[in-house]
Amino acid sequence: MRMLIMGPPGAGKGTQGKKVAEEFGIPEISTGAIFRSNVAEKTELGKVVSAIMEKGELVPDSVTVDLVADRLAKPDTAPGFLLDGFPRTVPQAEALDGILAKLGIALDAVLSLVVDGETLVQRMMKRAEIEGRADDNEETIRRRFEVYTAETEPLLALYRDRGLLVEVDGLGAVDEVHARIVAALKK
Ligand SMILES: Nc1ncnc2c1ncn2[C@@H]1O[C@H](COP(=O)(O)OP(=O)(O)OP(=O)(O)O)[C@@H](O)[C@H]1O
Ligand SMILES: [Mg+2]
Repeated sequence: MRMLIMGPPGAGKGTQGKKVAEEFGIPEISTGAIFRSNVAEKTELGKVVSAIMEKGELVPDSVTVDLVADRLAKPDTAPGFLLDGFPRTVPQAEALDGILAKLGIALDAVLSLVVDGETLVQRMMKRAEIEGRADDNEETIRRRFEVYTAETEPLLALYRDRGLLVEVDGLGAVDEVHARIVAALKK
């Protein structure tokens, strides 16, 4: 199973992505999580991306694409993978096509979590209290939504046209949403 999980900030990509990946026995690859751990460990990459992430802007495509290409070349992706947070721009989606073509593989599904704007803001405010992510403050959250709408949302149409898009209602309890995802993927 080779898949993407997409959706606006706060849609539950990380939470649901981990559960789906576990269910299918594939690695969950989150570019946001990789960047955050690099920031925490103060690596060279972390130094490059920390100010960008704090503003809610996107890390340059060249940096992100190389990171994903390296990660997808690792042997643990042989049974498949779930990508969370990538691709986020049209050039990233094109780069992913190239990476997969080189590896001789293709995507099986693109999962889209659908959540209304008011719920998203509520969830992110709650998460800000619990996790203290540097980018979960009002100004940055607003910017992340703008960036999502302008850069990432258009990708949904692209994957819909390819017949890969699986849309799932992301409202409700974690286990409810998970059950919906599994049911939708089995179809
Ligand atoms: N594919 C990417 N291209 C460019 N920047 C990225 C990419 N993935 C992550 N980032 C950077 O990491 C930040 C956090 O990404 P992450 O995916 O964790 O959060 P999110 O999708 O905004 O929210 P959530 O974690 O609630 O789903 C982004 O705002 C961006 O700065
Ligand atoms: Mg996330």
